Amino acid sequence: MVADCLSPLPRHLAIIMDGNGRWAQGRGMGRLVGHNAGAESVREIVEACRELGIAALTLYAFSEENWLRPRAEVRALMALLKRFLQKERALMLKQGIRLNAIGELTRLPNGTLEVLKKVMEDTREGSAMTLTLALSYGGRQEIVRAARMLAAKTLSGIIEPANITEELMASHMYTAGLPEPDLLIRTSGELRISNFLLWQSAYTEFYFTPTPWPAFRKPELMEALRDFAARERRFGKTGEQVEKVSN
Ligand code: FPP
Repeated sequence: MVADCLSPLPRHLAIIMDGNGRWAQGRGMGRLVGHNAGAESVREIVEACRELGIAALTLYAFSEENWLRPRAEVRALMALLKRFLQKERALMLKQGIRLNAIGELTRLPNGTLEVLKKVMEDTREGSAMTLTLALSYGGRQEIVRAARMLAAKTLSGIIEPANITEELMASHMYTAGLPEPDLLIRTSGELRISNFLLWQSAYTEFYFTPTPWPAFRKPELMEALRDFAARERRFGKTGEQVEKVSN
């Protein structure tokens, strides 16, 4: 049962987990300490979302641009991801969490990719929540990929250009089958979308907080959800039109 002040909950919550490095450096520690603490936040937020009944949670864990970071940091992040998946597999199974991943996954190191695929396969019947990790992900790259697939189908005569609709585009995105995100949270004070879910976030509500990701825990999540619940989503209509439908 969800408290009134949290209703409606987002069906799909997306998060840009930013600020691990600054959080650690502000404490005189290395960036990797921040990523480790960030993994603790991931665990806590996944559990909280599952408990609340949020159907889909998508986390921006590694962007296409993150490959440009120092090699040692990339290697450490990939190793952390692998350890996280190995450790959380049992809990995901127990809690009915289906693991999903979006992005250019073939760029991941073999060891990480193997574990990822295994946990995705093992949890595929999970029906309580879909946890999607965006890995080697870029929103523009995703749109280009969809355009290429549609161009190839058009060339081979499977579809006509006139039949390319928003729905058909959406079905060629990595996120096909997921609802569009209702709420997107970005931690650590930056006010931008950084190539995350560009196509999918056309009507998404945004919530920006100065709290760095390692400090973003259940109370901070509740605050964001309360803020979202109090908003009026109009989808281009007038306030009066929206009120009529919901009454
Ligand atoms: C942004 O912080 C965070 C990342 C680039 C990676 C996100 C990774 C985690 C939260 C940890 C592991 C993830 C999983 C799924 C187990 P930043 O390094 O850009 O911070 P900064 O902007 O302060 O430098």
